[in-house]
Amino acid sequence: MEAIQSNFRLVAFPQAVPPTRAALIAGVRRADAVICALTERVDRKVLEAAPHLKVVANYAVGYNNIDVKTAKARGIIVSNTPDVLTEATADLTWGLLLAVARRILEGDQLVRGGSWSGWEPTQLLGLDVYGKTLGIVGMGRIGQAVARRAAGFRMAVRYCHHGSAPPAGLAGWIQGSFDEVLRQSDFLTLHVPLTEETHHLIGAAELRRVRSTAVLINTSRGPVVDEAALAAALREGRLAGAGLDVFEKEPDVHPGLRALGQVVLLPHLGSATLSTRIRMGMLCVENVLAVLEGRAAPNRVA
Ligand code: GLV
Ligand code: GLV
Repeated sequence: MEAIQSNFRLVAFPQAVPPTRAALIAGVRRADAVICALTERVDRKVLEAAPHLKVVANYAVGYNNIDVKTAKARGIIVSNTPDVLTEATADLTWGLLLAVARRILEGDQLVRGGSWSGWEPTQLLGLDVYGKTLGIVGMGRIGQAVARRAAGFRMAVRYCHHGSAPPAGLAGWIQGSFDEVLRQSDFLTLHVPLTEETHHLIGAAELRRVRSTAVLINTSRGPVVDEAALAAALREGRLAGAGLDVFEKEPDVHPGLRALGQVVLLPHLGSATLSTRIRMGMLCVENVLAVLEGRAAPNRVA
């Protein structure tokens, strides 16, 4: 905000919660630039309410919250925050994976709740991680960062990737079809953007193809997974566990998921480290400055 204030008149929504639709629409009316979060749906109605708008800088790498088509048609540049959050998000993905596999939250609850009566040979038995197969759906920047971390656990990495071919990674990452990745993974992690094609990419039919001993991790976007189908698969023992940082209708979570012990639920924390969030903010400022000064936006997505 300091960086903005030295160049512009800053109109900021004063609370840490997202603005209402009405406040958002009123707020953009005189704006030349908008910096928004993934909680703001910047659709046709918002864009049409902003006659002076030249750039929307999304404070996120995913930009499914923005109507890119309408922005394009109106000559409005859209930017995101790639690269700076890749490693933080990959770290959190591994945090979820280990937490689910080794039942870390259940263990913490046992100790914290005062009901732990001591070591037992069969207490809170979890899943091995070392040497298992990690399946990655979407081998972009974050998928590759997650895959690199698998080397320390000597895991076999199998991945599928739609769209442009990903750069070659460490020797041994094996590309396969979506179906092969579903069937062969012990841990399945999702790193695709949310688009019409990836909506409910993991649904009832896909969950019937994964191993019953497998764990699903999602740090991408909630609607990539059909939460009702996931809750059913977990409840019926067709999947061993899930680690979720994102949900279909945030901040709501399917009640069937909240009821299950083998599920770890986080409040969309993928990029939530102080240094990452500062770098994301500065990228937004850089993109806004570039457009308003007539230069190319460094992180233009549309
Ligand atoms: C967070 O979800 C992001 O897309 O940056
Ligand atoms: C466990 O604490 C062990 O020593 O095996």
